[in-house]
Amino acid sequence: MTGKPYDSIKPIIWQDDALQLLDQRLLPAEYTYITLTDVKSVAQAITDMVVRGAPAIGITAAYGIVIAARQRFAENPENWQQAIDTDLQTLAQSRPTAVNLFWAIDLMREVIKGLAVDDPVPALLSLAQQVHEDDIAANVKMGELGAQLIAEKCAVLTHCNAGALATGGYGTALGVIRSAFADNKISRVYADETRPWLQGARLTAWEMVHDDIPVSILVEGAAAHMIKTSQAGDQPIRWIIVGSDRIASNGDVANKIGTYALAVLARYHGIKFMVAAPTTTIDMNIAGGDEIPIEERSTEEVLGCSGHPVAAQGAQARNPAFDVTPAELVDAIVTEKGVVLNPDSEKIKALMSNV
Ligand code: MRU
Repeated sequence: MTGKPYDSIKPIIWQDDALQLLDQRLLPAEYTYITLTDVKSVAQAITDMVVRGAPAIGITAAYGIVIAARQRFAENPENWQQAIDTDLQTLAQSRPTAVNLFWAIDLMREVIKGLAVDDPVPALLSLAQQVHEDDIAANVKMGELGAQLIAEKCAVLTHCNAGALATGGYGTALGVIRSAFADNKISRVYADETRPWLQGARLTAWEMVHDDIPVSILVEGAAAHMIKTSQAGDQPIRWIIVGSDRIASNGDVANKIGTYALAVLARYHGIKFMVAAPTTTIDMNIAGGDEIPIEERSTEEVLGCSGHPVAAQGAQARNPAFDVTPAELVDAIVTEKGVVLNPDSEKIKALMSNV
C-alpha cells in the first residue's frame, strides 16, 4: 500500500478506559472527539449520528457493551449478566437498518453468557478490540479485491460515506477506491453530496482530500448527466462503488437512500455497480431485501438544511434513510472472504459457508 498510513483517520478510539468518538456531525469544520462513559450516551451517539456507517456502529456498540458491563458489575457482581440485558436492548434500539449493530450485540451477548463471575471487562474489551481490528483488516482485504475488478483507469462515483469514518478504519467502498487509486486505476472520484446529512460532501470529500485523491462533489441529481456525458471524455465514469448497511441472503443490498437510483442508472448506461461490505453486513436470516427494516428519520432533516429551515412552511416530508437495490442490478459484492459476481442466494450461501 502506498500513500498515507491507512489508519490515520480514526472515528473510534478506546483510551483511558473510555470510548472516544470523532463527532462526525461537525466534520469537516471541526475535528473533535467526545468521550463517552455510560451506555445510554453511546446509544444516543449512534442515534444522533455522532458515529455512523454500518461497521462503525457495530464497533461502537461493542465498546458500549464493555462500558455497560463495567457499570453493571460494579453495581452488582452477582447479577450483572442479567442486568446488562437492558443495556443490550438500549443499544439495539439506536438504529434499525445496519445489521452490523445486531451482529456485534449478539457476539458480545454470547460471550457474556459464558463468562464466570470475575471482572468481565478484560475479556469483553479484548473482544471489542478484536472486532475493531478485524474490521480494518477486512477493509484492507476488500480494497485489494475490489481494485482488481477495475480493468482500466477511469473515474468512479460513490454515494454517502463508506470510508474510514464509517468503519474501524480505511473504509469499504473508499477502501477499494484508496487501493485502486494507489494502483493508478482511478483518475477522479465523484462524490454524491448525499442529502440530508451530506455524508458525501462533508465526509467522503474530506477523506479524499486528506489522501490527495482528486474528488468532485455532485448534487444527487447530477449523477445521471455526469455518467452519460463523461463516457465520451478522457475521464469516463466506469464504476459506481458503494458500501452497504445490510445485504440479504439473496444479494439484495440496503444502503443510503439514493443508492438504488444509482444502480438503475449504472445498468442503463452500461457501467458497473460494485458493493464493498464485510461479511458482518450479510444477514443470512432474511431471504430478501423486502425484509430489511428501513429507518425513517425525522422530517426536520429534509425540511431544513444543516439545522436551518428551508422548506415552505406547512409542507410535509418523508425521510427514508436507506433503500434496497435488487441483487440483479449488482455486478459485484466484494467482501473480505471473496468477490461474488452477479450475486444470488446460492453464491451468497457458498461465500458464507466459508465464514
Ligand atoms: O446514515 P449513515 O450515514 O449511517 O449511512 C451510512 C451508509 O449508508 C453507508 O454507505 C453504509 O453504512 C456503508 S459504511 C461502510
